Amino acid sequence: MNQWTREARYRPLSDIAPEVYQAMKEEIRNSPWRFSYHIQPPTGLLNDPNGFIYHDGTYHLFYQWFPLGPVHGLKYWYHMTSKDLVHWFDEGAALIPNDDADSHGAYSGSGFVKDDTVHVMYTGNKRDKDWVRHPSQIVGHLRSDGRIDKHLPPAIPAVPPGYTEHFRDPKVFQDASGIWYCIIGAQRENLTGCAVFYQSVDAETWTFLGELTTQYPDFGYMWECPDYFELDEHGILLFSPQGIIPEGDAYQNIFQSGYLIGEKLILPQLTYHHETFLELDFGFDFYAPQTTLAADGRRILVGWMGLPDISYPTDMYDWAHALTLPRELTIKDGRLHQKPVRELTELRKETIYDQETVLTQSTVLAQAEIFELELSNVSLQTDQFTLNIRASNQEATTLSYDAATQRFTIDRSRSGVDVPATDYGTTRTVQLTQPLHQLRLFVDRSSIEVFLNDGEATASARIFPKSTSQDIMLSGALTASISIYSL
Ligand code: FRU
Repeated sequence: MNQWTREARYRPLSDIAPEVYQAMKEEIRNSPWRFSYHIQPPTGLLNDPNGFIYHDGTYHLFYQWFPLGPVHGLKYWYHMTSKDLVHWFDEGAALIPNDDADSHGAYSGSGFVKDDTVHVMYTGNKRDKDWVRHPSQIVGHLRSDGRIDKHLPPAIPAVPPGYTEHFRDPKVFQDASGIWYCIIGAQRENLTGCAVFYQSVDAETWTFLGELTTQYPDFGYMWECPDYFELDEHGILLFSPQGIIPEGDAYQNIFQSGYLIGEKLILPQLTYHHETFLELDFGFDFYAPQTTLAADGRRILVGWMGLPDISYPTDMYDWAHALTLPRELTIKDGRLHQKPVRELTELRKETIYDQETVLTQSTVLAQAEIFELELSNVSLQTDQFTLNIRASNQEATTLSYDAATQRFTIDRSRSGVDVPATDYGTTRTVQLTQPLHQLRLFVDRSSIEVFLNDGEATASARIFPKSTSQDIMLSGALTASISIYSL
């Protein structure tokens, strides 16, 4: 992408005449593989979810956005709101990188409610004339017109000693006594990744507390987008480490996101006893997730359904990526389980299949492009079953399960044109801890999200099939309750 010179990447949206931008938007709206029910950018590139927060009847969800092309350039925060986590309203750009402290991007950060107002804390990305990066952490609040006012100068103006310029993505939370904390992703001077904490009484003036000690002193070169929260008396740390080497089924993507689960973090001492790191998603395209508390206390996670440094077929149409569906987190057997939030049943339009099925041979159950499928009470009479979706005689995305090994595999080698990131392989496999009894699948025009055994394992993947590839075909000998809904 040679036209993406440094100058082009850092061009602000305000440089473009409104009618030129309008035409760009129109063209992209009509381009292939646009999503039907996922959050996607109107133009350009979307990456991390940011500032996810519920306040006063409304969910606010922002995302990292470069308006002018499918590349990582000058980042804005784009703002979406929802009453139900299903239908999202476009609120436009909320955070504009037009100050000295964020001159090269309003990078990732989080949302919190203080004084009955939505606040955010994010990383101001600034580069000097020698292209040296100077990150700072900036607090702001959301005005009633949907824009964010920055409280400048930055709350945390510089990187503390011992860390490099890779110091970003503050996630703010409050403890039971009302003290504010924020966790920030960092790279130590010895080029290993970690997370550090700050503390505050007013969420405006912050004091450095120190580094979180984990059993992972040397685990990748940078930890992006850390998130700490408590669920059912456990302390959970999510982060996206970079530079992890593949190991068996794990870490098969360019970068991964995962979690540590353990006892509650002791603050402000930063003592944390935890289990081993586990990946959150065994699919192809998932990164930088962020969580928030729902109105009723559920812990909800949204991720970026994409990865840094990978090209995708929509790049040629000047847009890239989407957010995942929101997932509810629970803990079972000491592990996180992830289920699509229950509100998502609202997406269902028509029931196109709904039967207790006894299958003995390959069967096309239905045809659909954009749908949800659920298999429950699955009982296999053979060793394997295979589910082909978005299938035709030229292409298919193949999900298969092997009962002998309890392994579930997604194969996107024949998913359509230009399968992304083939250097990292075209299949992903997960080892289940119990036989497969339930599967839920959400398919959009260019994505699949799979949830196995009521959330024991989850996978997200982008696929780029022809819109006419619509067969849903099941093979194997099995009985199951099967429902398919158009969405
Ligand atoms: C993760 C990330 C963050 C950063 C943002 C910039 O994908 O690299 O660390 O804040 O994206 O867009």
